[in-house]
Amino acid sequence: MTAPTKPSAFEPSRYIWKGPALSEARSLPANCYTSEAFFKAEVENIHARGWIIVGRVDEWANPGQYRSVDTVGGPVLVVRDEAGTLRAFANFCRHRGALLLEGCGTARKILCPYHAWSYRLNGAVLAAPSMDETEGFDKAEYGLLPIRLETWAGFVFINYSNDAPPVKEDIGDLADLLASHNMDDMVVTWRKDIEARCNWKLLVENAMESYHTGTVHAATVGAQKSVSFSGIGEWMGMQVLSKSSIAVMNSAKPPFQPIDGLSDQAQQGTFFMFLHPTTQFCCAQDCMWWLTVRPVAADRTVLSIGGCFPRKTVEQSNFEADAAPYYKRWESVALEDVGVLEKLQTALHSRLFQPGPLSWRDDLVHTFDQWVMDRMPEAARSL
Ligand code: FES
Ligand SMILES: [Fe+2]
Repeated sequence: MTAPTKPSAFEPSRYIWKGPALSEARSLPANCYTSEAFFKAEVENIHARGWIIVGRVDEWANPGQYRSVDTVGGPVLVVRDEAGTLRAFANFCRHRGALLLEGCGTARKILCPYHAWSYRLNGAVLAAPSMDETEGFDKAEYGLLPIRLETWAGFVFINYSNDAPPVKEDIGDLADLLASHNMDDMVVTWRKDIEARCNWKLLVENAMESYHTGTVHAATVGAQKSVSFSGIGEWMGMQVLSKSSIAVMNSAKPPFQPIDGLSDQAQQGTFFMFLHPTTQFCCAQDCMWWLTVRPVAADRTVLSIGGCFPRKTVEQSNFEADAAPYYKRWESVALEDVGVLEKLQTALHSRLFQPGPLSWRDDLVHTFDQWVMDRMPEAARSL
């Protein structure tokens, strides 16, 4: 018996639709989700140039507050320095490379746990024991390595590339669409990281269609209807139509008032807006949550979620109790998604796997896949 042939090479004309009918489009070949070589090419061509969310400005309210974040480019330390400037550094010591700070907290200086070099919060070397007797050593040359950091609407982003466009350019006119949510005035009250044994693109594709909601989320949020958007900038998205916030489960009545001054369009439903390459802003009528995927390997990703409410809402006396159902909903729905996506990842290893036809409800899946493949070099397509 002849062994079946597993499709492995990427064939753009066959898989990437350029014609008039979405029904001609196919999902990507399996190797795009399973090959470590393909994943490495994505890191170089996509993630090393994309804006990565590391948190919200209010998580670093005071000088000395720090948070370590694992990124696709390695460990990062984000700290507010003595002068109040928020900074990002590669989180390793310039001596022999030990990891510096872990978790989050407040520090007056950054002390290496290995040979006790220390750094000021602005990254400059404070002290390097015994190094003044080492010929040619100049501590001014060994400050922590800075990483580009920018903020938008209260979000803190980093980028490994110094020549990538500013984050505002990637956001483009998405800023207008989300302006009435006034995210600058929101406070983050909940964070959750979920390990997912699947490729990062499966999480993004899944976040870009409401086709699966009636089955995967039957017990939580149920079937949803959405309309797709795109505009100027590195974004695309959809709005799930519902006059009442869908940030609580099973059509429960939301306990919080809608955000003051929401635009007519924002009142029609929840925006699920994706900023390439890894972030989704979910803006409901009464709150906002974000999802960002942190790729680890071809088949491993961390899904990081944060939940925010307007400052006025958070100041209400019953806030903690009323917010609990939102946290439950965000976590339950994410776990349902991860559960089904891990099944996809397993099945992608089938020798018989073939990219399937996309539904009209998968329009943004196709758009995202095309965005990814447009950024990959020709040689990477057959990895
Ligand atoms: S590795 Fe940090 S002081 Fe040696
Ligand atoms: Fe989902």
